[in-house]
Amino acid sequence: MKLHTTLLTTVIAVSLFSAAAFAADAGEAIFKAKCAACHPGGGNIMNKKATIKGMKDSKKIIAQVRKGGGGMPAFDGKAISDADAKVLADYIIKTFK
Ligand code: HEC
Repeated sequence: MKLHTTLLTTVIAVSLFSAAAFAADAGEAIFKAKCAACHPGGGNIMNKKATIKGMKDSKKIIAQVRKGGGGMPAFDGKAISDADAKVLADYIIKTFK
């Protein structure tokens, strides 16, 4: 019984840790999967004047993600949920200064 309790505690601790790690890296994971191909390092391989460096307004980033344009595809709520779009925008703001 003691062993089971210890195991269970370990499993719960590991699960909590993974959830926290995922939340911290979620923005980065979405960026790598959907944006980095055209915006490596916060740049822009298609239009050098439209980099995402130094952007501070998450609403502007999310608006661009939703509408696309100028060669960038639009990402709807199915491609990137509202919650993920916010996490993604926060990641861009804190990473590409
Ligand atoms: C296929 C290439 C491509 C992909 C993938 C892409 N973008 Fe873009 N992005 C562009 C291009 C090209 C522009 C310039 C659009 C224009 O000139 O209107 C742009 C512009 C932007 C801008 C506006 C920058 C500015 O200075 O006005 C933001 C913000 C942005 N992208 C964010 C993202 C995010 C976040 C993702 C991932 C969800 C993403 N992009 C995926 C090509 C891409």
